[in-house]
Amino acid sequence: GLDIGPLRRTTGDVTYDPGFMNTASTTSAITYIDGDEGILRYRGIPIEQLAEKSSYLEVAYLLIHGELPTSGQLENFESSVLRRTLLDERFKRLFDGFPRDAHPMRVMQAGVSALSTFYQDSLDPYDDEQVRISTARLLAKVPTMAAYAHRVAHGHALMYPDNRLSLIENFLRLTFGFPVEDYIADPVVVRAMEKLLILHADHEQNCSASAVRLVGSAQADLFTSISAGIGALSGPAHGGANAAVMTMLDGIRDSGMDPADFMEKVKNKEKGIRLMGFGHRVYKNYDPRAKIVKAIADEVLERLGVHDERLELAMRLEEIALADDYFVERRLYPNVDFYTGIIYKAIGFPTDMFTVLFAIGRMPGWIAQWTEMIKDPATKIGRPRQIYTGLPKRDYVEMHQRT
Ligand code: ACO
Repeated sequence: GLDIGPLRRTTGDVTYDPGFMNTASTTSAITYIDGDEGILRYRGIPIEQLAEKSSYLEVAYLLIHGELPTSGQLENFESSVLRRTLLDERFKRLFDGFPRDAHPMRVMQAGVSALSTFYQDSLDPYDDEQVRISTARLLAKVPTMAAYAHRVAHGHALMYPDNRLSLIENFLRLTFGFPVEDYIADPVVVRAMEKLLILHADHEQNCSASAVRLVGSAQADLFTSISAGIGALSGPAHGGANAAVMTMLDGIRDSGMDPADFMEKVKNKEKGIRLMGFGHRVYKNYDPRAKIVKAIADEVLERLGVHDERLELAMRLEEIALADDYFVERRLYPNVDFYTGIIYKAIGFPTDMFTVLFAIGRMPGWIAQWTEMIKDPATKIGRPRQIYTGLPKRDYVEMHQRT
């Protein structure tokens, strides 16, 4: 094993490391990233193989339990999830209570956080059986909530899950099933969604996973910890980037701006503008997920007969970036979000649902990170230090003496 005892015990000196660029907050056996080589593996298995061969729930099992399931284990796991997709009726009122224009990501965060009020009997982080049930509840109910958030925003009646369908088929039907009551998801679309969720399933100690672990380190329950992760993911520098990419592409298209002119603005840092969907804290090479996403985009658009000029625009921006010193020197490449939005649009999702889809994908990773943290005897409450830069001691000044 890795002997980190002496390091752990170091006290006194404080390391100033904004953004934790060089600070390992934990050891972890879940996900391996080599940012220079563009490698991503879940529990040792390359992301390319999992995207090709696996299912979302199989990957969830792998991430959480550490091994690929046998067929019996997978069957049990799937059935424990699928039979929990229904939401308590009172959730309908909760969802109905939000303003029509509420952002679905915020609605979902509130919904996940509310799970801890409905299941107060199974919140003990140290009871394996309770954690197992909470895990199944999260994987099952989050897609239902996401579909509800979408429907409420569009004024559509809420539908009940059909548990004969797979989790992803069910999610698509719950989202798009009305007014087209007999909605049957295209198998190419189902497989594409499955792959996209797998690609998003974990990414080690990113902002949201760290948020989940930090909140969980205070022994908060799983639902509460995950809702913190959803909050972190909503930011445009993190999961919100997939929606920001689409807004950027819409903006360039609608203004009729030449993509090369837009890239000049990015390089000149005009108004702090960035090429959204580009760059990554860890990948300083092509994001391996982005390659797979690009192939899925081609497949889905062809299948659905969708022509989207934003795909060509995105490819043009990438082409300019790969030939430009500014991006080459800073090692900025497309990340997972650069092409996902184009696929989601083709399937029918509005832009504000993109980050919600990311959250569904990331659910297994957050659960795996939280579970690993809870089981790790080395876990301590997360409590960073600071370097104080304020004033030295001074006395309180009475109101009448203040200038
Ligand atoms: N467009 C233009 N310039 C960029 C971009 C970008 N997308 N990303 C980084 N840069 C530049 C910075 O301006 C900086 O240049 P400088 O040295 O001249 O000041 C340099 O590259 C380094 O950038 P940092 O912000 O220091 O890099 P960091 O690792 O902190 O940021 C981040 C990573 C936040 C992802 C950044 O690349 C970014 O903002 N990208 C756009 C948003 C995005 O796509 N986020 C999704 C990330 S992936 C995910 O969450 C799934």
